[in-house]
Amino acid sequence: MITDVRDTAGMRECRLCGQPVREFFDFGRQPVSDAFRDPADRSAEFHYDLAVGVCGGCAMVQQSHEVPRTRMFHADYPYRSSGSAFMRDHFEAFARRLLETELAVHDPFVVEIGSNDGVMLRTIAGAGVRHLGVEPSGGAADTARACGVRVLTEFFQEDSARRIRAEDGPADVIYSANTVSHIARLDSVFRGVDALLAPDGLFVVEDRYLGDIVDSTAFDQIYDEHFYLFSVESVCTVSRRFGFELVDITRLPVHGGTIRFTIARAGARPVAPVVGELLTAEHARGLADHGTLDRFAVRTRQARADLVGLLRWLRDEGRVVVGYGATAKSATVTNFCGIGPDLVPYICDSTPAKHGKLAPGSGIPVRPPAAFADPYPDYALLFAWNHAEEIMAKEHGFAAAGGRWIRYVPRVHIV
Ligand code: TMP
Repeated sequence: MITDVRDTAGMRECRLCGQPVREFFDFGRQPVSDAFRDPADRSAEFHYDLAVGVCGGCAMVQQSHEVPRTRMFHADYPYRSSGSAFMRDHFEAFARRLLETELAVHDPFVVEIGSNDGVMLRTIAGAGVRHLGVEPSGGAADTARACGVRVLTEFFQEDSARRIRAEDGPADVIYSANTVSHIARLDSVFRGVDALLAPDGLFVVEDRYLGDIVDSTAFDQIYDEHFYLFSVESVCTVSRRFGFELVDITRLPVHGGTIRFTIARAGARPVAPVVGELLTAEHARGLADHGTLDRFAVRTRQARADLVGLLRWLRDEGRVVVGYGATAKSATVTNFCGIGPDLVPYICDSTPAKHGKLAPGSGIPVRPPAAFADPYPDYALLFAWNHAEEIMAKEHGFAAAGGRWIRYVPRVHIV
């Protein structure tokens, strides 16, 4: 049973199992990370307390407070999954693999939770395979439809899943990338999957991996949309709670460290040895231990001090530092570190919907990538560090002109 977060003498109760959650970091008041604002908008900006804790019962790392989902995901949600060539290739390769394996059956059916602009499903649609994207962000859903993808503009939850099952029949695969961790009401997702998935179907979830976040002190992976940070242990436990089983794991280099969790109905598929191996490794290193997470908190505060110190020093030396990639992650960096237009006068980003807008909270203007070379700044603060290879290759002229990149993951450094 999922309960609302309730304070209990400094502890909170787990959204999934009701056991006490111990908070290990509080970022203070934060805006909605993808709420880019029109400069003429004078209305009060929504803020909430961004704090994370770990459940002593199921090891799930979760936020203490929930932003209402319609504040985050709506018709104007600006993020587009196909904004990176590397990610386009990643999703196309996965779609092709699905077509050759799980979907190589008679009249297959695949559902994607959070299909965004259809970056994965467009390959499935192109192959003429029955599919359905479930995507509450209307603008992204429209882009997917224009690519021939069938989309339901809704949140995936138990009742929508039951409707899909009644109209389209059971799904052979339910896939979701960078979405399931966004959904505080995970019980409704699992009940929906239970209603919709074929008896031997697969629920495949790609999400950031807590182990990689901790190892690289990627504190900016913590923002409103990432309500949960998944580990193998917490995904095993929540799957079991709803009659499922984690049967396979693939570690992926995307987004700074991701796991593809393959989940099936309990007993329906053999469990790959890698599941037990990674579970053992998590216990051995104490991934969910208070000491591990407290050390992550110490390193996060150090990163803030180092980054702000560097940016102030460069400003005082008369150097220009521009941001690169107006990521949702950057909202945590700018607002937690107190970085405004005085330190970073603008951020360049390839997403048209963000151009001419102000970044949430910090009010830093967002400009198109063409502004980057006009003229080049002295330094570029790489907020989209998870796309570093792609961006640095694209912007090779910057380094050639003597520009330097500032990175803060896994620690503050200049390259
Ligand atoms: P993400 O890290 O959540 O995927 O967000 C990446 C952001 O960076 C998104 O706003 C698009 C932007 N971006 C660029 O501006 N240029 C690029 O080459 C890439 C790959 C992303």
